[in-house]
Amino acid sequence: CGIVGYVGAKPALDVVVDGLARLEYRGYDSAGVAVLADGRLATAKRAGKLVNLRNALADEPPPAGTLGMGHTRWATHGAPNDRNAHPHTDCSGTVAVIHNGIIENFAALRAELEERGHKLSSDTDTEAVAHLLEDALKTAEGGLAEAMRQVCGRLEGAFTLVAVHTGDPDLVVGARRNSPLVVGVGEGENFLASDVAAFIAHTRKAIELGQDQVVELRAGGVTVTDFEGRPAEVKEYHVDWDVSAAEKGGYDYFMLKEIAEQPRAVADTLLGRVGADGRLTLDEMRITDQELREVDKIIIVACGTSYHAGLIAKYAIEHWAGLPCEVELASEFRYRDPILSRSTLVIAISQSGETMDALMAVRHAREQHAKLLGICNVNGSTLPRECDGVLYTHAGPEIAVASTKAFLTQLVAVYLIALYLAQVRGTKWGDEVFAMVQLLAQMPDKVDKVLETMEPVRELARSLAGERCVLFLGRHVGFPVALEGALKLKELAYMHAEGFAAGELKHGPIALIEEGLPVVVVVPPRARAVLHDKIVSNIQEIRARGARTIVIAEEGDGTVEPYADTLIAVPAVPTLLQPLVTTVPLQVFACELATAKGHDVDQPRNLAKSVTVE
Ligand code: G6P
Repeated sequence: CGIVGYVGAKPALDVVVDGLARLEYRGYDSAGVAVLADGRLATAKRAGKLVNLRNALADEPPPAGTLGMGHTRWATHGAPNDRNAHPHTDCSGTVAVIHNGIIENFAALRAELEERGHKLSSDTDTEAVAHLLEDALKTAEGGLAEAMRQVCGRLEGAFTLVAVHTGDPDLVVGARRNSPLVVGVGEGENFLASDVAAFIAHTRKAIELGQDQVVELRAGGVTVTDFEGRPAEVKEYHVDWDVSAAEKGGYDYFMLKEIAEQPRAVADTLLGRVGADGRLTLDEMRITDQELREVDKIIIVACGTSYHAGLIAKYAIEHWAGLPCEVELASEFRYRDPILSRSTLVIAISQSGETMDALMAVRHAREQHAKLLGICNVNGSTLPRECDGVLYTHAGPEIAVASTKAFLTQLVAVYLIALYLAQVRGTKWGDEVFAMVQLLAQMPDKVDKVLETMEPVRELARSLAGERCVLFLGRHVGFPVALEGALKLKELAYMHAEGFAAGELKHGPIALIEEGLPVVVVVPPRARAVLHDKIVSNIQEIRARGARTIVIAEEGDGTVEPYADTLIAVPAVPTLLQPLVTTVPLQVFACELATAKGHDVDQPRNLAKSVTVE
């Protein structure tokens, strides 16, 4: 979910709705606002995307006030309808609450409230908080902030809460446990939001809130305490993202813009890390070379697209750094008994740095005393704070729900880490490592070349809009690329799509092949003859069974031509780096196919960009 709070001198409704528009990628099942004006609370909420709320507000504008809050929802408890949309209010209509997360003891709290005579009108866990605040306000001497602290002490689970109360019309109160919330510090105005995108148009000064903290926001100042009311130390930081980076800049969709930005994103992620002498400097990572020399095993945890970057990392780390490397879905890792020690390095990959499954996996690893390294795109998010070290990707804000440029920069980050481990640990691949570092520097150009040749891919995608299923095959690092290609198509085009290891096909999935079924095959470079020749045989096998073959291979690879119904050529690069060029056509393919089907590629159904519940 996305949350915005504002107090200052501007019309609160405009600030809040603009902020929500920038946070809509976090959920779009419903949207709602509350504004305090003349000591009265006005709320409006609508199921569906923000545009529905905007229309409702245009039909019936609430009174103008300079304090307000808003919410864009990714439904957890209760169907995504008007009634369950946030804000929620208490019986008296004097307290309004918005919430991100899940309150796990909600059933018990609700039963207790109903016993005390409260009437709850929604199916959400959030509404219980509004009623608990109503009760607490009757006795809490410190007003809404104190009431919030008392109520937080009773809640289990993960939550960000923001509340306003007619009794204190200059105050917005926020609370945070395990879900994101940042403060934007302005001149005579202050902001609360799930992420800085909501307020960078107004201020670049931000404060990270820590775990279990309550913030009181007034036009003239910000006070932060823990749940017991003890003052907390706050750390201010400067947000260097450009406002225009969070805007479409002439593209129809953020996703198109983000695909196009990939050469720049890759270059920015390499910037300052590759020395002229071909040596890498990753001092900013906060993990010392000595600590890296002591590592004897690596475990990567991540979700979704970031997990696919992790799968590719395994090939790079095992090959260049010579270290055993496991990759695990973050949501599974926590519920096993993974074997970790002080010499295990756990790498968590997360674009947002807020994915709850990834954060929980990191905490699980910390309990076993492993070293923790985050790969993250969002400065000030939770993941970097919970890890011993962090390597930032510099993709800039990624707004489209389906990840593109963040994925490519995650690949760059994992290559840098694998090569850096090789550099400090001195593996047998000294010369190759040196050569790879030089080649990495050429990757922005190669990605640019791929983007220049995408028109036939778009045409192909449009011609396949009527298909029901597409399969993706790859070997080696081409296998995770196949998984990523299939995920993109599921996310955007709502089509059945699956990725397989090409060698595994004959052990079952080949039964799926029928006349005309489109199968995308990612072919490794010719230089890796063993891999290359095997996959050429796989293409022949599926073609013999009627598949329509769409082959992604390096330019000039004549050997695949006779078996390809469509050939997509990408620049020649070494095998391990090939995902940087082979993923791009698959992104373009899914994006175009979904657009041809009339889908909103920035906000696919049922998804959210950053999932802050487990
Ligand atoms: C969500 C998004 C995916 C993303 C995944 C992990 O499910 O819809 O696109 O890959 O979260 O996100 P993260 O921010 O942790 O990389």
